[in-house]
Amino acid sequence: MIYRLFFRLVLRRLDPERVHGLAASLLRHAGGVGLLRDVLGRTLGRRDGVLRVRALGLDFPSPLGVAAGLDKNATWFEGLAALGFGFVEVGTVTAQAQPGNPRPRVFRLVNDRALVNRMGFPNTGAEAVATTLAARRPHPVVGVNIGKTKVATMDGAGEDYRQSARVLARHADFLVLNVSSPNTPGLRDIQAASGRLASLVAAVREELDATTPRVPLLVKIGPDLTDSEVDAIADQAVALGLDGLVAVNTTTTREGLGVRAGSPQAAESGGLSGVPLKVRALEVLERLNARAGEDLVLVAAGGIDTPEDAWERILAGASLVQAYTAFVYGGPVWPHRMNRGLAKLARESEYGTVEAAIGAMRKPAAPRERSPRVPSAPPNPPAGQAQ
Ligand SMILES: Cc1cc2nc3c(=O)[nH]c(=O)nc-3n(C[C@H](O)[C@H](O)[C@H](O)COP(=O)(O)O)c2cc1C
Repeated sequence: MIYRLFFRLVLRRLDPERVHGLAASLLRHAGGVGLLRDVLGRTLGRRDGVLRVRALGLDFPSPLGVAAGLDKNATWFEGLAALGFGFVEVGTVTAQAQPGNPRPRVFRLVNDRALVNRMGFPNTGAEAVATTLAARRPHPVVGVNIGKTKVATMDGAGEDYRQSARVLARHADFLVLNVSSPNTPGLRDIQAASGRLASLVAAVREELDATTPRVPLLVKIGPDLTDSEVDAIADQAVALGLDGLVAVNTTTTREGLGVRAGSPQAAESGGLSGVPLKVRALEVLERLNARAGEDLVLVAAGGIDTPEDAWERILAGASLVQAYTAFVYGGPVWPHRMNRGLAKLARESEYGTVEAAIGAMRKPAAPRERSPRVPSAPPNPPAGQAQ
């Protein structure tokens, strides 16, 4: 309530990236000071036992995690975990440091609880992030999301990802290959081109095989694939021996927007996230679950805003759920509220715990082929990549 007022009166008047920087700086300090971290952890961060999930060989105190992009350089994940998140996916990290696209590059669609961004993977690079992560404590669980450096060619993408994996794998509890950020010319083609995905996974896997303990490997896919492409990726993920899939990244479509669909913010190029993504994100998850839910750990992202959203994804096959945009709008108490609501739903259900409810609603994949998704925003920002 207080945050909502503060957001309406103050934060929404400021540039989203400035607010982000402020929050990061506050939480970095809170997370770095033992006493503050403990106080936060014992209040907001207290998690009900029914939320516990074991997945990817790891123990998660809550299935609710931070989606990639929020903590790009792995500098404030401890503060985020102290607010109640069960894990943090840091990154996207690229092999070489890069500044990202020119600002402004994040836009709020407040009435839709959505964002459009074309960040362009600004980050300090794999070596610097590895140095930061090397000093981390065993908790919280940290996944590292890696992507293609802007200046790397598509032919050099395998080597580029491999270099990041070499440097970062030993500091990660799990690794995610991001092949789905929109507006990176050619990047999303890796998802649908089975040969490209296979050689990328093989290159990274070679690096991971040299790392002990074994680091689980996942691929993050986008929502703008056709249904048959989603099915093909599920099959391929199993064939390639991937541990899981993260679904979904942002969309280049502008579907699901309310009355502000024609606003200047909606017309900005880049990926749309938040509530408008909910329907397609659930569809993709259900498809993946029907196809490969027995063999893969599914991590759901996209428009998760309420405890009911998270519970729906868990029933639909997600072992873990992630959010970015709802946290921006919900504020620091949002993860705590989500955990409380989710624990209540689990306890009052016939399953009793989150873990027991995973995939309880397995649905057969619909046979229908999706038609091309319209309308779309301009696919490429003026310079570089989105996110
Ligand atoms: C500002 C912003 C930056 C993002 N950066 C990344 C990124 O670097 N790597 C990535 O894989 N996803 C990135 N994402 C996508 C999110 O991780 C997530 O998949 C997507 O936003 C859908 O979840 P949401 O609706 O909860 O935001 C970003 C999203 C936003 C809003």
